[in-house]
Amino acid sequence: MNDLPVSRRGFLKLTAVSATLAATPPWVARAATPDGGKPPVMQAVTLEVNGKPATLTLDTRTTLLDALREHMHLTGTKKGCDHGQCGACTVLLDGRRINSCLTLAVMHQGAKVTTIEGLGTPDKLHPLQAAFVKHDGYQCGYCTPGQICSAVGALDEIRRDVPSHVTADVSSKAAFSTLELRERMSGNICRCGAYSNIVEAVTEYAEGQA
Ligand code: FES
Ligand code: FES
Repeated sequence: MNDLPVSRRGFLKLTAVSATLAATPPWVARAATPDGGKPPVMQAVTLEVNGKPATLTLDTRTTLLDALREHMHLTGTKKGCDHGQCGACTVLLDGRRINSCLTLAVMHQGAKVTTIEGLGTPDKLHPLQAAFVKHDGYQCGYCTPGQICSAVGALDEIRRDVPSHVTADVSSKAAFSTLELRERMSGNICRCGAYSNIVEAVTEYAEGQA
């Protein structure tokens, strides 16, 4: 009597198929999926990253985040959700903050990109980085590069009088406040919950700039 749902011959066939799949490199397996196995379209893109020109030849589907991390090895910029929901990948693109996981590198020919590595160095911290250290604005630190790049962008928006959802009077000059900061950085999630310390750090920096 055989209680198994497959016969011995069927089982051997299944094993052979599984072994073939296991031996297939993942990039070959991926190439055979939604695009029907077409080879990727490659394109050269030149960016200025942290003040240095960089020309990369990329699959046109490469996000800016993957170009920075996987091709340029600038791993300070973090991949959290890869879906535009956590802000860990925030960088400055031509001075404006952007979720680098939500944009393709080839869309930014000639753009200037600033990552956390371009803001400060371990020997010469950006004042905002120093404020994060002083106020314990992090625990695991995974969200921190995105928080700092986002804060630089948010403060620049206030300087440029860009209103936010909580700006009471859009015809008046924008001003820094905790409410404005919390609103403008609401896209930067901290799983460790270091929010109050982050606010303290950015506030001290902002007040020093005023
Ligand atoms: Fe880009 Fe989360 S990794 S928003
Ligand atoms: Fe850990 Fe923000 S410090 S996620």
